[in-house]
Amino acid sequence: MAKIKWNWPFIIGFLIVFVGASIGFLVYAGTNHFCGSVCHSMFVYRDTWEVSSHGPKVLKDEPVACEECHYDRGIKGYIAGKISGMRSMIKEITATYHTPIKGEPKEARCKECHDIKKLNETETHRIPHESHEAMGLKCMSCHAGLVHGREGEGEAKMTHDACQQCHDTANADECTKCHKW
Ligand code: HEC
Ligand code: HEC
Ligand code: HEC
Ligand code: HEC
Ligand code: HEC
Repeated sequence: MAKIKWNWPFIIGFLIVFVGASIGFLVYAGTNHFCGSVCHSMFVYRDTWEVSSHGPKVLKDEPVACEECHYDRGIKGYIAGKISGMRSMIKEITATYHTPIKGEPKEARCKECHDIKKLNETETHRIPHESHEAMGLKCMSCHAGLVHGREGEGEAKMTHDACQQCHDTANADECTKCHKW
């Protein structure tokens, strides 16, 4: 019986290249460059992110990456995010994408970077964050359009609309309740 002759150098070489390429792809697919350049439906999100307060135009070498807001923390979140991303890519390739696509970020991720317990005022405004969160308000109730606000122009500016529902922003006696004039 003829013995099978394995071409070990070839097999090992192939495995190294294959595994290397797979890891390389996975890492590359995680970069903003890949997501922004391959996923057509992501263009608008990449472009707005780029010039937003969290993007490279403002934070230079340390921008907040897409997955830091959109994926859950840890390896499980990373894999889940990747699978969801791959699913998006298949839809992209087969042109079965329906915009808008679901991508609400996780508030827990915001809070990992921003300690809102201590956030009662900014340089210009008074805004006790914790008590407003306790009323059931979400970050995005007020910070709508924070990252992907206006196409090409970065974030959308907050307006009285975010407060008007509960505060009388037209009452001249109330202005300094929020504004540090
Ligand atoms: C600082 C956090 C943050 C970063 C970083 C970020 N996003 Fe978002 N993203 C948001 C928020 C908040 C929303 C919800 C919509 C809104 O309020 O603008 C959102 C929404 C989205 C949506 C879905 C919109 C919808 O209607 O469901 C997509 C897709 C998306 N982002 C892609 C990206 C991509 C791609 C990047 C990186 C180039 C990115 N995001 C970076 C916070 C972020
Ligand atoms: C990986 C860390 C990180 C994550 C996640 C993150 N941010 Fe930020 N955020 C920053 C940094 C860094 C800045 C710029 C410096 C600063 O103001 O602290 C910033 C700035 C801001 C500002 C001030 C923007 C301005 O124009 O002055 C707001 C508001 C904000 N983030 C809200 C959010 C919300 C809401 C989320 C979740 C959707 C979020 N951030 C997620 C790091 C993060
Ligand atoms: C009730 C509305 C409201 C909610 C809800 C809210 N914010 Fe804010 N936030 C504001 C206002 C108003 C400012 C001040 C804007 C300014 O100074 O121009 C602000 C400022 C900030 C800043 C900038 C702080 C600085 O020193 O410049 C960060 C970061 C921030 N918010 C994060 C968050 C996060 C994270 C959440 C959700 C957990 C959240 N906010 C929920 C209204 C809100
Ligand atoms: C869902 C309703 C709601 C929204 C939306 C809301 N607030 Fe409030 N806010 C309240 C309530 C209720 C209180 C506590 C009672 C009060 O002082 O009016 C409060 C209190 C405050 C206080 C403390 C007032 C004091 O006398 O100490 C500030 C400052 C404030 N809000 C700012 C804002 C700003 C800025 C926005 C918009 C970015 C906003 N709020 C949006 C309900 C809301
Ligand atoms: C409940 C809180 C609240 C009250 C009351 C309020 N404002 Fe504001 N105002 C805000 C917030 C929040 C913004 C948006 C801040 C930002 O751009 O980040 C804003 C924005 C503005 C702006 C746009 C320019 C800017 O500063 O960005 C003007 C002008 C202004 N307010 C004037 C007034 C006047 C005048 C009154 C009283 C008649 C008043 N506000 C009452 C919260 C308030």
